[in-house]
Amino acid sequence: MWRWAVAAIMAICLLLLVLLVRHRRYRRRTLASLASNRADWLRDHPLTIVADPDETLAAEFAREGIVRIDRFLSPQCLQSLRGEAEASIDQMTPSFIPTHKKGRTLSYEKIHHYAPGCLSFYHSPEIQQRIAGLVGMPVFPTPDGDQSSLSILCYKEKGDHINWHYDHNFYRGRHFTVLLSLANEAASGGLSQSTLMRRLPDGTDQALDTSANTLVVFEGARVLHRAYPTAEGDLRIMLSMTYCADPRTSWLKEFARRIKDTAFYGIRALWD
Ligand SMILES: [Fe+2]
Repeated sequence: MWRWAVAAIMAICLLLLVLLVRHRRYRRRTLASLASNRADWLRDHPLTIVADPDETLAAEFAREGIVRIDRFLSPQCLQSLRGEAEASIDQMTPSFIPTHKKGRTLSYEKIHHYAPGCLSFYHSPEIQQRIAGLVGMPVFPTPDGDQSSLSILCYKEKGDHINWHYDHNFYRGRHFTVLLSLANEAASGGLSQSTLMRRLPDGTDQALDTSANTLVVFEGARVLHRAYPTAEGDLRIMLSMTYCADPRTSWLKEFARRIKDTAFYGIRALWD
C-alpha cells in the first residue's frame, strides 16, 4: 500500500514540476514580448526634466545615502504620469500585512498595459544618466521578471502605510530605490499624513518632504525607512523604481525576492 502512496506522491511532484517549467517558459515569452515594444513607448512619451542634479547633490548622496530633488519634471509631464496612475487604481493589487503594510500596488507587468508614460520614465536613458551621476556609478533597470523593478504605490484608504523596513538587495551590484511622487495631498489641502521617514544613525527619525513632483533617490538596503499611515481623504501615489549597478542574481536570491514580493502581489509572485 505504501508503495502506491509513494508512487502517487512522486507522480504529483513530477506533474507539478512539468507545469512549473511550462509556466516559466510562457512567462519568459510574455515578458520578452512586452519588452520588445519599449523603444516605441520611449519615443511616444518624451520627458521634460526641469531639475538637474548637480555635484553638490552627488556629494550629499555619498555622505547620506539619500537625496531628494524638488520640482523634477515639468507640470504637464507630471500631470500626464499622475493621470495614468489615477486611471489605473482599479487595476492595482490590494495588500494588507497586519502591523507592516497596507495599500495598493500596480505591478511592473501591468504598468506595461496601463501606464506607458511611467514605463518610459523608468527606461529613459536621461533618467538613468542622472541617477548614475548621483550615485557615482552606471546603473541599469532590474530584471523584467521582478515585479517591483517598477511599480506604482497608492495609499488612498485611511491607515495605508508601510512600516520600518530596508529595501533588500537581491542582486550582485549595489541597488538603488528611486521614488517619484505623483500625488501627495490631504482632502483639506496640504500634504497627506503619509510622510516618508528615515532613521538616522543616531536613532532619531527624519521626515522627508515628498510633495508631488519630488524625486527621492536612496540606497534602500542601507537606509531604514517607512511611510506614515494616511488619514481619511489622503491621496499619496508614488512611482517606485529600482536600479542596480549589476542586476545579475542567483537562484537563491531570486527565490528570496519572490517571497518578499508575495507581500505586494500575493502568492502568485512565487511562480509568476
Ligand atoms: Fe521601501
